[in-house]
Amino acid sequence: MAVLVTGGAGYIGSHTSIELLEEGYDVVIVDNLCNSDKIVLERIKELSGKTPKFYEIDITDKEKMEVVFKENEIDSIIHFAALKAVGESVSMPMEYYSNNIGSTLVLFELMKKYNVKNFVFSSSATVYGDPETLPIVEDSSLSVTNPYGRTKLIVEDMLRDICFADKSLNVAILRYFNPIGAHKSGRIGEDPNGIPNNIMPYITKVAVGQLPYLNVFGDDYDTADGTGIRDYIHVVDLANGHVKALEKLSENPGLVTYNLGTGKGYSVLQLVNAFSKASGKEIQYKITERRPGDIAACYADPTKAEKELGWKAKYGIDEMCEDSWRWQSQNPNGYKK
Ligand SMILES: NC(=O)c1ccc[n+]([C@@H]2O[C@H](COP(=O)([O-])OP(=O)(O)OC[C@H]3O[C@@H](n4cnc5c(N)ncnc54)[C@H](O)[C@@H]3O)[C@@H](O)[C@H]2O)c1
Repeated sequence: MAVLVTGGAGYIGSHTSIELLEEGYDVVIVDNLCNSDKIVLERIKELSGKTPKFYEIDITDKEKMEVVFKENEIDSIIHFAALKAVGESVSMPMEYYSNNIGSTLVLFELMKKYNVKNFVFSSSATVYGDPETLPIVEDSSLSVTNPYGRTKLIVEDMLRDICFADKSLNVAILRYFNPIGAHKSGRIGEDPNGIPNNIMPYITKVAVGQLPYLNVFGDDYDTADGTGIRDYIHVVDLANGHVKALEKLSENPGLVTYNLGTGKGYSVLQLVNAFSKASGKEIQYKITERRPGDIAACYADPTKAEKELGWKAKYGIDEMCEDSWRWQSQNPNGYKK
């Protein structure tokens, strides 16, 4: 029996595939490589000593996806594949709705036909909007401010409806906080196309001299140093959360939802300082205008995942920065030669 990992060549999917292979799962990866590189698959093999099956397919293509279900005995699906750039989603909402929602619909149609019952969904803390209270618990109110976030909330709603109608399904909605860091080996990490949207790859590109300085969006938030606070989580901890979620689904829990974060918030300037300490590099930055839609602070209450999954983040901010730096300094151009 195999786990189908959609988006398994991407940042979080590649780290999760390694953890799954190391735990003895058979892994089938489907990715259209729209935001990743085939070299990742070689690195997964190098690090895990195993070769996951790979299909270069767009998940919205139901006919091609059906071949994957026919050729493999799929037991569970972890659905990472999605477009994820908030700014781009504002200018290209149709692409985001059709890719992120369309891919999930195709998977559920095929799950029904091929009797697959277990599904893990990559959601995001973005579904909490501007939280009323901190830390954020899973039953906090949900709201979103951009099309990317709306695709996550729509899929979450869809999953709640589908699981209500079919009690034989088991679905874990995992709401990630802010993944950073990389595999300890420095062989896989985050490699965004073009100018990074997320803060850590931006910082690491400043550190290797590919970008001149970091833009810090606003220093007038109601936080200790005025910059935004986020809950950064090591990508390997996040990957392990998926292994724990699959174990949970084997107990037939129906639909379950978990925050995956550390529970600790760090400001942008604290992150910059931690990175400078870890890398020995001074990071130039400029304070600019607040970015529309950004919030002052966001961090998880991860107690539910600890109690019900037996999962807790192990790595602290220093290791996250050291590992991000190892990846970027050893691969200054990412996966591109
Ligand atoms: N990285 C974050 O900060 C973050 C935070 C919260 C949630 N998430 C969610 O986690 C998931 C994984 O994120 P990531 O950071 O690894 O992103 P990523 O872009 O590195 O990985 C996504 C992968 O999916 C593939 N893909 C996209 N659409 C596809 C399609 N239609 N068919 C086949 N493959 C497709 C891409 O090529 C890429 O390899 C996404 O769903 C994202 O929304 C990410």
